[in-house]
Amino acid sequence: MKVLVVGGGGREHALVWKVSRSPLVSEVYCAPGNGGISRIAACIPVKAMDIEGIVTFSKKNNIDLVVVSPDDPLAAGMVNALQDAGIRAFGPVKEAAVIESSKVFAKNLMKKYKIPTARHEVFNSPDKAIKYARKQKYPLVIKADGLAAGKGVIIAGTYDMALDAIHEIMEKKIFGESGSRIVIEEYLEGKEATVLAFTDGNTLVPMVSSQDHKKAYDYDLGPNTGGMGAFSPSRHYNERMAEICQDGIFLPTIHGMRNEGIKFKGVLYFGLMLTDDGPRVLEYNARFGDPEAQVVLPRLKNDIVEIFEAIIDERLDKTRIEWDDRAAACIIAASDGYPGMYRTGFEISGIEEAEKEEDVMVFHAGTRHENGKYYTAGGRVLGVTALGNTLETAINKAYNGIMEINFQGMHYRKDIGMR
Ligand code: AMP
Ligand code: GLY
Repeated sequence: MKVLVVGGGGREHALVWKVSRSPLVSEVYCAPGNGGISRIAACIPVKAMDIEGIVTFSKKNNIDLVVVSPDDPLAAGMVNALQDAGIRAFGPVKEAAVIESSKVFAKNLMKKYKIPTARHEVFNSPDKAIKYARKQKYPLVIKADGLAAGKGVIIAGTYDMALDAIHEIMEKKIFGESGSRIVIEEYLEGKEATVLAFTDGNTLVPMVSSQDHKKAYDYDLGPNTGGMGAFSPSRHYNERMAEICQDGIFLPTIHGMRNEGIKFKGVLYFGLMLTDDGPRVLEYNARFGDPEAQVVLPRLKNDIVEIFEAIIDERLDKTRIEWDDRAAACIIAASDGYPGMYRTGFEISGIEEAEKEEDVMVFHAGTRHENGKYYTAGGRVLGVTALGNTLETAINKAYNGIMEINFQGMHYRKDIGMR
């Protein structure tokens, strides 16, 4: 089979790595890919949002399966376009990806199907939002409705901060049209966990749990990023919690979607807050998490292409999914200044040394490969993932790996997996 993976970050490197291990696969392509991916797949110069470009390339090259990985092309209907062109594609159609691309849709779904989440209200105008915010308890959470590169959530500690947030999102439009509507919701306290699930719209199989670290600096300080590291399993998501989530959150979500006439086929991401009153949904994503994919995929024992095919053909109920019992940790190395302004083009050393250790993998996020050398090319540059018999072993191995790596301005958190 010829498989094309759409995207070019650390998550896509992990996906391409996993896909390339499938005995069913003869050739792997990635659009646009990155420096690390170019060593194991043919990277093609088509942007991840170029729907026409992806369809044309797939037709011309007789691609048997396209895996659409990032949120933007899913929300824009890349899977719909591929299907219309008669090409097999893995990922939700845009009507299903709306569970991520509209927080208002997601909140309404949860309300209607009694899926536990933070109490909320939706606002189309700043005046009403401000009036409402005045009467709330603080901190208060303010979310832009649409996609905002993971930055559309503001936790306002005071009423003045809420006023600023409403002004910035709805009037200054810092997230563009994504901020035409906002959700204001109660602040939840607890432990965060991520559960990704494979689903064909009928059957839902959760993957092993994980947790990411969104803040830029140690002790969860600094601005939100795409994710500075992850580990699996979560320290707080036990079997009892898994049962509660399966019955009270996961299955009601896909059944609710089906009831609304929407079949979700792909990977559904549940961002959970485990509170004293039980688990609550913080957010849904319509795809693998990044960097959660870098710790979950190395633990998957199955051929992932078989799972993708089973989902497309709606026979996930006949597939037994198996996991490596070992834990995994991933530490992200970022460019100095990320998630703000940063410079690129610095040579990276030590990748091969890091990978010499058994069960240590380096997944590239923003790198370029030229004349046998790697150079930085993004904010998140790469992630070192390690497997270990315990979480502590995995974390130590991942840190030993990242200490081999160096580039000018390299920054990484020192407390991944510690909490
Ligand atoms: P989201 O993109 O919705 O997951 O939000 C980004 C981050 O904001 C989450 O990972 C949480 O850390 C935090 N967050 C979102 N909603 C809430 C909430 N209702 N209460 C507390 N923290 C939240
Ligand atoms: N790690 C969070 C996300 O992928 O949205």
